[in-house]
Amino acid sequence: MSDTVRVLFVCLGNICRSPMAEAVFRHMVKEAGYEGRIEVFSSGTGDWHRGNPPHEGTQKVLREKGIGFDGVYAKSLSADEVNSYDYIVAMDNSNVDDLEGAGVPRPRIRLLSDFIPGRAGEEVPDPYFHGNFEEVYEMVEAGSRGLLKEIEKEKGWAS
Ligand code: 4NP
Repeated sequence: MSDTVRVLFVCLGNICRSPMAEAVFRHMVKEAGYEGRIEVFSSGTGDWHRGNPPHEGTQKVLREKGIGFDGVYAKSLSADEVNSYDYIVAMDNSNVDDLEGAGVPRPRIRLLSDFIPGRAGEEVPDPYFHGNFEEVYEMVEAGSRGLLKEIEKEKGWAS
């Protein structure tokens, strides 16, 4: 790992789950004083929404929690960029399959739930179809907290 830790959150459309994770984790990184040491990105495995802001449901949750999302717009993944990330964090197993299909080695891919104590292997439900943005936020918040702890441990930053 280089000195700067690069984190990529991945979902299908990059308008609901992974942009929420991008905003929440970036907020947490800033609060912890790690701005400049951890870079946060998100991407979708599909490109239908490229260039769009987060889904209204994601925007609503983020506003309620006081988390900004300036500059968060949907992007789609290019296979050759994935090597530049230290952590590639998928929301569900179909994201993992799609990433593998795009040539990302399975051991490089983690599920967000792997960072939530006692919930490893669970999928973050897709709110685009179910509207459960609050439940997604709870998982994103817990997973982000766990991920930050793992990075602190890995880098020897933990106090
Ligand atoms: P996301 O949700 O992967 O959490 O951004 C979705 C957004 C869009 C679609 C599916 C899931 N879609 O089919 O357009």
